[in-house]
Amino acid sequence: MKKFVYEYPTKVYFGEGAAKEYLAAALAPYGTNVLLAYGGGSVKKNGIYDEVITILKAAGKKVTEFTGIMSNPTYDKVQEGAALVKKESIDFILAVGGGSVIDCCKIVAAQGKTEEDLWEMEMERRQFPKEAVPMGAIVTASGTGAEMNGGAVITNEEKKIKAGMAAKAPVFAILDPEYTRSVPRMQVLSGAFDTLSHAMETYLGNSDKDNVSDDVALSIMRNTVVNMRRLLADVNDMEARGNLMWDSAMAENGILKVGRVTDFQAHQMEHQLGAYTDCNHGQGLAVIHPAYYRHIVKDAEEIFARFAKEVFGKDSAAEGIEALTDFIRECGLPTKMGELKSRAEITPELLRQVADTCNVIKTNPRELDRDEIYEILMECM
Ligand code: NZQ
Ligand code: ZN
Repeated sequence: MKKFVYEYPTKVYFGEGAAKEYLAAALAPYGTNVLLAYGGGSVKKNGIYDEVITILKAAGKKVTEFTGIMSNPTYDKVQEGAALVKKESIDFILAVGGGSVIDCCKIVAAQGKTEEDLWEMEMERRQFPKEAVPMGAIVTASGTGAEMNGGAVITNEEKKIKAGMAAKAPVFAILDPEYTRSVPRMQVLSGAFDTLSHAMETYLGNSDKDNVSDDVALSIMRNTVVNMRRLLADVNDMEARGNLMWDSAMAENGILKVGRVTDFQAHQMEHQLGAYTDCNHGQGLAVIHPAYYRHIVKDAEEIFARFAKEVFGKDSAAEGIEALTDFIRECGLPTKMGELKSRAEITPELLRQVADTCNVIKTNPRELDRDEIYEILMECM
């Protein structure tokens, strides 16, 4: 185990009816002015908006709405939210949505407290916000685990970079599997694949032998695969949705990362692919993972062999990667770049730009050079 300091900032309320039962009390310590943030309107169709607004009104909150947060939220959208925070003297931000809404709000919360340009401050000067408006998250689509961490993935359209920014974690998270009932099948599976990816990417970083975090990560992977298969049989299996919701939080709430380094190279490639294409995050990962793993399998043979045995019941590292590839197909997730919904045509030139601009992780099984990243991306064509 490497040295670590561990503290948990997010209180979680899990289960059916959690918002009705706990939201008012969770908001009680904060001021009256609440920014209610959501995405493109799914919350209006499925009744979540009505339920939440009723609770806010009954609690005497003055609500300002921040709407239309898109998937892969942009830095421009962050500025729109931050302007509202300042104008309306917002005391608390309530993010109601998936990873995109939650991430956008995390940076809005920090930008709402400063006149400095946060992107420039974080990305260029490597300084991080010390203050933020407190926020809470009501998860309506699970997978990213954004509700229990202090990172936020934001797309800067002008600079063509999609990257992680540091922020404060939500003070509470409401996880009601029933709130995910209306999520379309493909998004449920893409989100769950993102969870699987987080656990795999954490596990693949170098760690000492018999590290407890490895064992927890492998359990999360197994449980995610088992429950994804249950959803393939019945997409409305709410018990499976609930398991996946907690797998999602567990995979990215930092618990798997204590005492070890992580990989996350597949994520770096996918994020930058997202900057150029606006593709769905989980689906981008589904395309990239197998090709990336075929490149690095020889550098982490033992780690992959254990993954193969414990997650897919296979006898070798290579068979484990093939089982992962088959599983992606079984889920009906995209396996090639051409199957991704993209705002730009995915050409070799575009992939070269992705390879030339994505982050390169130094602690993964082997540091890749940009030509090899390009090769990996081209193998996904
Ligand atoms: O916008 P609306 O209308 O709400 O529709 C959304 C959106 O189209 C829909 N949706 C959400 N809840 C629903 C629902 N539809 C019906 N019923 C509901 N209950 O789902 C679609 C996708 O939502 P989105 O939030 O974009 O998806 P996801 O949760 O996968 O988040 C993706 C974003 O999170 C980032 C990704 O890069 C991407 O930008 N990530 C954040 C991480 C973090 N902070 O820890 C880690 C991840 O690795 C990831 O990078
Ligand atoms: Zn992810």
